[in-house]
Amino acid sequence: MMLSSTAPHRIFVLLLLTVHFLSVHAHLETRDEFSDSGLSSASWIWLPEPDLHTTAPTGSVAFLQTLTSPAGKTAVYASIAITADNNFTLWVNYQPIGASDPVTDWKTAQIFTAALNASVNVFSVLGSNTGTVTPNPAGLLAAIRVFFLDDTNETIFSDDTWVASGTIPSDFPLPHDLSSFVRAEVAATYGSGPWGTDATIPAPDPNPLNLTGSAWIWSTANANNSAAVGSVGFRKTVTSPIGKTATSATVLVTADNTFQLWVNGQYIGAPPFDNNTAGTIGSWEFAQLFTVALTPSTNVFTVFATNFPATSTASSPSSAGMVGALQITFSDGTTEVIGTDATWLAGTYTSASTFLDAADSALVAAVSSGLFGIGPWGTLRGTSNALNVLQLPTNNAAVVASSPTTSGPASSAPPMGAARALMDSQGLFAMLGCMVSVLGLFLF
Ligand SMILES: *[C@@H]1O[C@H](CO)[C@@H](O)[C@H](O)[C@H]1NC(C)=O
Ligand SMILES: *[C@@H]1O[C@H](CO)[C@@H](O)[C@H](O)[C@H]1NC(C)=O
Ligand SMILES: *[C@@H]1O[C@H](CO)[C@@H](O)[C@H](O)[C@H]1NC(C)=O
Ligand SMILES: *[C@@H]1O[C@H](CO)[C@@H](O)[C@H](O)[C@H]1NC(C)=O
Ligand SMILES: *[C@@H]1O[C@H](CO)[C@@H](O)[C@H](O)[C@H]1NC(C)=O
Ligand SMILES: *[C@@H]1O[C@H](CO)[C@@H](O)[C@H](O)[C@H]1NC(C)=O
Repeated sequence: MMLSSTAPHRIFVLLLLTVHFLSVHAHLETRDEFSDSGLSSASWIWLPEPDLHTTAPTGSVAFLQTLTSPAGKTAVYASIAITADNNFTLWVNYQPIGASDPVTDWKTAQIFTAALNASVNVFSVLGSNTGTVTPNPAGLLAAIRVFFLDDTNETIFSDDTWVASGTIPSDFPLPHDLSSFVRAEVAATYGSGPWGTDATIPAPDPNPLNLTGSAWIWSTANANNSAAVGSVGFRKTVTSPIGKTATSATVLVTADNTFQLWVNGQYIGAPPFDNNTAGTIGSWEFAQLFTVALTPSTNVFTVFATNFPATSTASSPSSAGMVGALQITFSDGTTEVIGTDATWLAGTYTSASTFLDAADSALVAAVSSGLFGIGPWGTLRGTSNALNVLQLPTNNAAVVASSPTTSGPASSAPPMGAARALMDSQGLFAMLGCMVSVLGLFLF
């Protein structure tokens, strides 16, 4: 196996300084190509216990795996098949990506796509064993397929190179102190043990939400060519048709350069923190897919988008845009898709609370640069899953504190989301300042 998987070390700091400038924009589409056979080389792993098949203790276990790309290869995204007996939450590079479905059980493995860093990527999983009846087995099963810029791929599986801790570090998924982590124990290979071949992968959605027909919008005209550096707020208020009750929404969104999604005044999530440091690829090249619960009749979707400068001169204008689609599901099973267009409202971002509290009359109509597909963005690289922070486990103080939800809306800082708080706590923030000057150029 060429991908090297190691227990995490904080070697990624130096990698931040490895920067490439413009994107070789290969149109690598993300693929959900896992089938059940994709799990056959994976093992059920957990914290070492006398008998993981029958008397595994209940409670949570933190898992970590770090993948380093082979020399000369640039990782672009990963397709991840994962399940846990009884449940899991997954982060990639400290960004929440997905969790087990509370409706189905461990027998339904889930497939997620995550945009990756070029060289080093950290996968963090919180697994929980629940239940009161013996036998009560515990296990995590995963396959991670990494796609590289040269269109090759490699797959790694859950095995005893993963590390596990029964004490959940308060700063998980980015723990500083790894002293409580030990090598995971293989409870069984896929197909054997108490699980047999019961875990399977569901068929992918045949009609995934897409951005066809949505417009790239901003607060100013001609923004796909040039817009001022800074943050802009967007609002779309969606009222259910008479007789219909909204239950949930799937939200697909991206922005050049980054964004935060809020729904009904609550922070939902953001793309990976990225100033184009992921080799040649910006995180905006992957639209982020969120699922959120809705209120029955009126729902307010807010996106705070931030445009970075074109050069290291902090004020240099650059291309700016936000594009998205909302798929609203109603209680009768019907759906409605609403794309970004000039009916969205826009306004200057000074703080989240100021924008969230502003009357519609204080905002202006967003300006469309053109439909999804226009330059300079083209069709993007694909879609990345993003877990709504409201769905994160509440038994982890650090995880919850890292989102703006509990600390109140962000102040005058540009909207950066959870990853920024994590970086601050890692003491990386100061060095990111110097990274910005090293960067010199951002995409577009
Ligand atoms: C992944 O790589 C293998 C060769 O190692 C190839 O057969 C397979 O088609 C690739 N999968 C995808 C989805 O590109
Ligand atoms: C986007 O979604 C719509 C609605 O499901 C579908 O008709 C269309 O073919 C999709 N477009 C692409 C490019 O997949
Ligand atoms: C991935 O890249 C981001 C910046 O884009 C950085 O903050 C993070 O530390 C990187 N992760 C790893 C594991 O190198
Ligand atoms: C990313 O770039 C923008 C624009 O230069 C800057 O405002 C922001 O502070 C940068 N983020 C970090 C963490 O350096
Ligand atoms: C911006 O979009 C227009 C079409 O709306 C297109 O003609 C122009 O080339 C685009 N700009 C860039 C930088 O791609
Ligand atoms: C997993 O189970 C634990 C214990 O019941 C619960 O606290 C946690 O929220 C669950 N996590 C997920 C992702 O379902």
